Amino acid sequence: MKILVTGGLGFIGSHTVVELQNEGFEVVIIDDCSNSSEKVLEGIKAITDKSPLFEKIDLKERVKVEDFFKRHEDIEGVIHFAASKAVGESVEKPLLYYENNIGTLVYILKELSKKGKSSFIFSSSCTVYGQADEMPITEDAPVKTAESPYGNTKQMGEEIIADTCKVNSNLNAIALRYFNPMGAHPSVEIGELPVGVPQNLIPFITQTAVGLREELSVFGDDYPTKDGTCVRDYIHVVDLARAHVVALKRLLESKNDSNYEVFNVGTGKGSSVLEVIQSFEKVSGKKLNYKIVDRRQGDITSAYADTTKANKVLGWKAKSTLDEAMKSAWDWEQKIRK
Ligand code: WQD
Repeated sequence: MKILVTGGLGFIGSHTVVELQNEGFEVVIIDDCSNSSEKVLEGIKAITDKSPLFEKIDLKERVKVEDFFKRHEDIEGVIHFAASKAVGESVEKPLLYYENNIGTLVYILKELSKKGKSSFIFSSSCTVYGQADEMPITEDAPVKTAESPYGNTKQMGEEIIADTCKVNSNLNAIALRYFNPMGAHPSVEIGELPVGVPQNLIPFITQTAVGLREELSVFGDDYPTKDGTCVRDYIHVVDLARAHVVALKRLLESKNDSNYEVFNVGTGKGSSVLEVIQSFEKVSGKKLNYKIVDRRQGDITSAYADTTKANKVLGWKAKSTLDEAMKSAWDWEQKIRK
């Protein structure tokens, strides 16, 4: 069974391709390599002993998208990761985000709408909840006004898919709302490859520890949380990747309750920034150089998932602990700096 993975050379995409190939799916990747490298294909092959098909296509070029689907009529499912995802950049360049994240989604959905039954997995985000009123966060929590164009493209993306599914019963879709992905494949053949100065906490920690960055700035310790630092739900990227395969199979096997479903994908456990730092120091045996600075604009205090629906309805549960995920992130950082 052939599955298209857009953005399949990216961090979550590549780990999902590995899990799909491990399950015997034939995978074709589309990636424009704007934030990833073709070298990732070698890592995927090293792990699974199989090279996915790969086509370097900019999904903003509608004619190329149409041509691709004509040449791959046997595609039965799409997992759509391809999108720009830097929150700060999206504030400065909103139109780049609306064109790249929304325009390309529309082109893909138009192609799927021409087919008979098709299955579509959308990479969404807990960012749609903003600062939720209650923890843990359930899928029924209200979607709040996005704090950034990036977050807005995830909210709009979900609405576009829902509206399309309403008028096209052949299209079956699941939106997965990720919490905070981290870590790397235990083989250390693939992992996170942030471009430039990392925005996210985990790569900044490992790059500081390996000597690439002077010290970690902890953005605020005056939040109303257990130790004053923000709380997030950090999920191992392999657990997250597996959730995509489970969700895809749910649709391919017509086990879905409706043709548009939403699931939170997290561990259900909240960890503060200081707890994450303690986890790093424990698994690495190294002292991390950090200082407390002012809050970062736009950060919410706390977000961690209620995973009941994913556990009971989707039949998926995260397996790795924060320490295991952190160890994999550290092993990966040390490998790529060798
Ligand atoms: C985590 C915590 C920071 C860096 C991001 C995306 C979001 C979603 C999940 C895609 C926060 C603190 C961070 C640093 C710090 N991704 N921090 N020093 O902001 O929760 O969400 O990942 O859908 O869209 O924005 O992740 O890793 O940036 O921050 O103190 O150098 O670490 O304040 O509390 P975030 P993050």
